[in-house]
Amino acid sequence: PVTLKEAYQDDFRMGVAIATHWLTEPHPELLKIVAEQFNAATPENLLKWQSVHPERDRYHFADADRFVDFAEQHGMRITGHTLVWHNQTPDWVFQGADGQPATREQVLATLREHIQTVVGRYRGRIAGWDVVNEAINDDGTLRDTPWRRILGDDYLEIAFRLAHEADPDAELYYNDYSLYLKDKARTASRLVRTMKRNDVRIDGIGMQGHWSLDYPPIEDIDRSIQSLSAAAGKVMISELDINVLPWPGDQIDADVARQAVGSPELDPYTQGLPAEKQAQLANRYTEVFELFVRHRDFIDRVTFWGLEDGASWHNNWPIKGRTAHSLLFDRNLRPKPAFDAVIAVG
Ligand code: XIL
Repeated sequence: PVTLKEAYQDDFRMGVAIATHWLTEPHPELLKIVAEQFNAATPENLLKWQSVHPERDRYHFADADRFVDFAEQHGMRITGHTLVWHNQTPDWVFQGADGQPATREQVLATLREHIQTVVGRYRGRIAGWDVVNEAINDDGTLRDTPWRRILGDDYLEIAFRLAHEADPDAELYYNDYSLYLKDKARTASRLVRTMKRNDVRIDGIGMQGHWSLDYPPIEDIDRSIQSLSAAAGKVMISELDINVLPWPGDQIDADVARQAVGSPELDPYTQGLPAEKQAQLANRYTEVFELFVRHRDFIDRVTFWGLEDGASWHNNWPIKGRTAHSLLFDRNLRPKPAFDAVIAVG
């Protein structure tokens, strides 16, 4: 039987996001699949600021160490995720010791210390870092975040310089969602070109890839892979999952979700997908992987944001029990038709 990493060995690395509890609680069957199928790994949460550096004077490296050991043992190339983001970052980062808003100098010192400590610890072991995550709005303007308000518009460049200082051999990436949007991709390309012109190291752009069955159009993904790789060199599909349910909004409820999976009598939350939806998901995966293979000269890695449908970040929100059926394995760890479809393209 062919595995994902074998099927794509001449094209790009195949990666998976590793959940913290897979390593802290026994998950032998699941980890066996992870080790067999993938040759790249990203931590889903355990290197985010709030996980690894929850308090000013306290780092928590136990989970990250476990993760790096596991990935190394199984020959998986590691992407660190992520250094500068507006989410999952504790409030203290932007406060002085007195609880007052921190000055620019204070935040700079905090950021330098964090990057030196975290990137420095895994120097030579973590091959690449998502240095900045989600800094651009969908309309192409820069997102309003504490980082930008306090450090100024060049905070991206600052973060990349600090990461390069901490590990001169590590690859450095910019990562974002919805980069299939023209305005957003244009700004990302511009940021990368400006950094390169200023001699700031940046090796590639991660397109997250939280997509659905019919959105975005494949032409839009195609166009952005071309424009982003022209600017950055490498493109990673860094967080792929294809949601069969409509994007969660306030209006969504259980009935809408049931309709969406095409089977009012089946409970989409607890049971499998109807065959027809399975086929649609498989076809969508076929379509995107055919595109990735066409761009194999630029695409360095394709990473799934999870392994099995029971543990997808799409689940349980906004309705508890909701499952988005986005991944290649079902909640019993059986490969879905989507898995066979991906193997067949490779
Ligand atoms: C998500 C994780 O999957 C969840 O477990 C967590 O609760 C929130 O973050 N974009 C990113 C990822 O860059 O870090 C996010 O991961 C999903 C969206």
